[in-house]
Amino acid sequence: MIVDVKNLNKSYGKHKVLNDLSFKIEKPQVLALIGPNGSGKSTLMNCMMNLISFDSGEIEILGKSNKDYEIFREVSFLKDNRVLYPYLTGFDHLKYICDIQKIPQERIEEVIELADIGSFYKKIVSSYSLGMKQRLLLAMALCNNPKLILMDEPLNGLDTDSIFKFRDLIKNLGENNTTILISSHSLNELDYITNDILFLKGGSVIYEDIEIYKQTEYRIFLENSDDMKVLQNFLDTNSENIKYQIKEAENSIIFNLKDSKINQVLSFIYENNIKIKKILAKTYGAEDRYRKIFALD
Ligand SMILES: Nc1ncnc2c1ncn2[C@@H]1O[C@H](COP(=O)(O)OP(=O)(O)O)[C@@H](O)[C@H]1O
Ligand SMILES: [Mg+2]
Repeated sequence: MIVDVKNLNKSYGKHKVLNDLSFKIEKPQVLALIGPNGSGKSTLMNCMMNLISFDSGEIEILGKSNKDYEIFREVSFLKDNRVLYPYLTGFDHLKYICDIQKIPQERIEEVIELADIGSFYKKIVSSYSLGMKQRLLLAMALCNNPKLILMDEPLNGLDTDSIFKFRDLIKNLGENNTTILISSHSLNELDYITNDILFLKGGSVIYEDIEIYKQTEYRIFLENSDDMKVLQNFLDTNSENIKYQIKEAENSIIFNLKDSKINQVLSFIYENNIKIKKILAKTYGAEDRYRKIFALD
């Protein structure tokens, strides 16, 4: 078990921020934490990292209580760049972290590579852009080769290029079995990073029917209206029991399908010489899910 948060409650005065919140991270993954401003994302992360106290509940990280200092040998928290020293270089920061944690110096070269800061780690931090600072923070967070990294809004304020870069770095780490919990406002950006999302609403985690999001909505426009019947018949008799909707005026058919199943439909279309005008495919992203959960539509 990587993270096990049980019945967490946290209030500021009369304001209940976390309300009996529970969730688990059982296997290595990149998990997004999404909720509107003030929904408690930072509070949750700060509680997990034992930086603030909570009223009741339990938090276990890597099988130990979060109050056990030992876990921080295998956990990192990327919070904000106020921890950086403007008059020191990136290298100085990495050396400092490795020295105090007794991490071999060889690791410095590895994290320079992993966080892609090779072109500027020798310069002083006051000359860095926001994106460069974020990458230095990531390099610092990677020094202890963590199993779990918490990132609180790491994409905030980054320009487009830096977002692309940071997003790819996170994806790479995820593919190498580092667990990352990342909070963000940039819903579209998160789609490139992960489909696994914890939504925070009313102080608790909202679980959704995740299956729908593993599907794609296809809209197939046909050349001939006669072919519509043929295709309809195929969908009706298909063992997958595909539900569809016909738009007669534009001669199109709309259905949701697991990505692996679209080949069956396309093979049928091909074998029956059905002429296609165009196909549109739409996946359900973080934004669609956010709209549904927070009832914005
Ligand atoms: N130190 C504090 N004292 C009082 N209220 C706080 C404090 N920190 C956060 N809050 C309140 O708790 C709520 C959640 O804040 P926060 O965890 O920062 O949300 P998020 O990170 O999702 O924007 C907000 O309403 C905020 O005003
Ligand atoms: Mg916050």
